[in-house]
Amino acid sequence: MKVLVTGGAGFIGSHLSEYLLKRGESVAVVDELNDFYDPEIKRNNLAEVSRHGNLHFYQTDIRDSRKLAEIFELEKPEKVVHLAARAGVRPSLSAPLLYEEVNVIGTLHLLELCRKFPITNFVFASSSSVYGINSKLPFAEDDPIEKPVSPYATTKRSGELLVFNYSHLYSLPATCLRFFTVYGPRQRPEMGIHKFTSKILSGKEVEVYGDGQSRRDYTYIDDIVGGIVKALDNPKPFAIYNLGGSSPVTLTELIERIEEAAGVKAIRKYLPDQPGDVPVTYADICKAKVELGFEPAVDLKTGLARFVAWYREKIFSGK
Ligand SMILES: NC(=O)c1ccc[n+]([C@@H]2O[C@H](COP(=O)([O-])OP(=O)(O)OC[C@H]3O[C@@H](n4cnc5c(N)ncnc54)[C@H](O)[C@@H]3O)[C@@H](O)[C@H]2O)c1
Repeated sequence: MKVLVTGGAGFIGSHLSEYLLKRGESVAVVDELNDFYDPEIKRNNLAEVSRHGNLHFYQTDIRDSRKLAEIFELEKPEKVVHLAARAGVRPSLSAPLLYEEVNVIGTLHLLELCRKFPITNFVFASSSSVYGINSKLPFAEDDPIEKPVSPYATTKRSGELLVFNYSHLYSLPATCLRFFTVYGPRQRPEMGIHKFTSKILSGKEVEVYGDGQSRRDYTYIDDIVGGIVKALDNPKPFAIYNLGGSSPVTLTELIERIEEAAGVKAIRKYLPDQPGDVPVTYADICKAKVELGFEPAVDLKTGLARFVAWYREKIFSGK
């Protein structure tokens, strides 16, 4: 099977590409290697992935429809996993147009090509942020989601709606996966667990936004990759699934767990709530369990121990 992975040099995409290569699939990656965080990290990710097979890499912007068409012509992918995006809630507040261009127009370019080429499955990376300030817990796929609170969340919901258009109009089999805060080795440096670990290990202040009672549902990278692969292997006419650990913890508890994993105490600095942040995320994963066989297996304690070990070996030792 030939799979095109957009955003394959990033955190989730590099793990997925590695998994697929190990399984013997042909993988082509499209990634522009932008500087949202150090592109060197993405090059290193690609180098690690390439050790597991013959990776075809294209440094291309998904907003460039002409180049994308050339890649589809050349690679003739059977399936597409679309992970490339401007990620993150907070930075979307200062660059809403960029988020719209990449996450919505870029997605539309890909869908147009999936209409023209014989693509048998399109898997789209959506986000728990689409639930916005949903007050019903846990979040289920058919909850009303009319209250997104960041440009990022809105672009992800727009992406889902466009994916539905193409599945309905052109019978493109498609699945949208709503990821709940993913962590593990190679996690983006600006994300909470990575940032907190870095600060704790180097004795710097950990910035705690709000009173520490906001809750997040954390999902270990291997569980996310498992869910993506299940969606990839089981095309649906159209489906949306939550992929989450389904076991939220408060920010205060998260920092305590990182302290335990690192064996070092954090110095906390309390700051006001950040606009765009939601008070809680909590995935109802019944649908993904029943229909996909998704079963998160790595609990937070185990996942954090693995993350801290990776961070110490790959990042901290080089500082
Ligand atoms: N990490 C999470 O917790 C999380 C949660 C919910 C949803 N998601 C979604 O999952 C996907 C992957 O997230 P990630 O954490 O691996 O992020 P990441 O930033 O590590 O990976 C995204 C990759 O996309 C590439 N990219 C961005 N804009 C591009 C463009 N215009 N053209 C080509 N490539 C481009 C980047 O260079 C990067 O390598 C994203 O769509 C993100 O919105 C992630």
